[in-house]
Amino acid sequence: MTDRSDIIIDVKNLRKVYTIGTERVIALAGIDMQIHRGDICCLFGPSGSGKSTLLNMLAGLEKPTTGEITVAGARIDKMNEKELADFRRNNFGFVFQSYNLLPALTALENVEMPMIFRGINKELREKQAAKMLQFVGLKDRIRHKPTQMSGGQQQRVGIARAFVARPPVIFADEPTGNLDTHTTYEVMDMMSQMVKKRGATLIIVTHDEEIAAYGDHIIKIRDGKILEQSFPKANAAPDAAPAAAAP
Ligand SMILES: Nc1ncnc2c1ncn2[C@@H]1O[C@H](COP(=O)(O)OP(=O)(O)O)[C@@H](O)[C@H]1O
Ligand SMILES: [Mg+2]
Repeated sequence: MTDRSDIIIDVKNLRKVYTIGTERVIALAGIDMQIHRGDICCLFGPSGSGKSTLLNMLAGLEKPTTGEITVAGARIDKMNEKELADFRRNNFGFVFQSYNLLPALTALENVEMPMIFRGINKELREKQAAKMLQFVGLKDRIRHKPTQMSGGQQQRVGIARAFVARPPVIFADEPTGNLDTHTTYEVMDMMSQMVKKRGATLIIVTHDEEIAAYGDHIIKIRDGKILEQSFPKANAAPDAAPAAAAP
């Protein structure tokens, strides 16, 4: 069960305004929120409401126009590009809607990537990557390249890559947006098991109610603002033991 006094992300009066020519788009109109360590937090809302903009700010991929973002005690809004890149590498994993695997590399090599950036030796990298691919059910696909795999398989490689270096925070923007219903549940089950097993925090952007149902914390976004927040599992019985033990 999440300890709700343990805040991993703290956002104060966050605003993002895009200017295109003379046009101003207020993508985020003043967001105040806190995310608790160990939660699956869903940023939930219709297309164009500002979900991806918010996720990109939290993940240090874009700078806010104004406001404060503190992640694990660090003010990421004040960091320069180099500091941000280091911070992201050491703290964040990413799962993308379009998978973003490197097409020339095998599944195993793709999963090794975050460990290369962290300077882990080849032997250990291969071992950890193979273990993760086994967990996501791709033991017999480790030498396949992305074009030789289905969308669901590619996203499972994406999940293995996001978690392999054990980052405390994982960001996922519409991670099942290109998958069918059955595969969506497979992928969501896998991610939530991994998050819970490792005590990681998952921030997931979705417009899909079924995905939001995985959330411990649901933040409804509308027109760049928080409409409503809920903690639907706060008083529920603890989850049953997961079917497969995550590595
Ligand atoms: N780079 C950008 N330049 C200008 N406007 C943008 C940019 N990114 C997003 N927007 C605008 O900000 C609003 C929120 O977009 P976005 O965060 O992508 O919404 P969502 O992810 O909820 O669909 C939209 O009106 C969108 O057009
Ligand atoms: Mg979006």
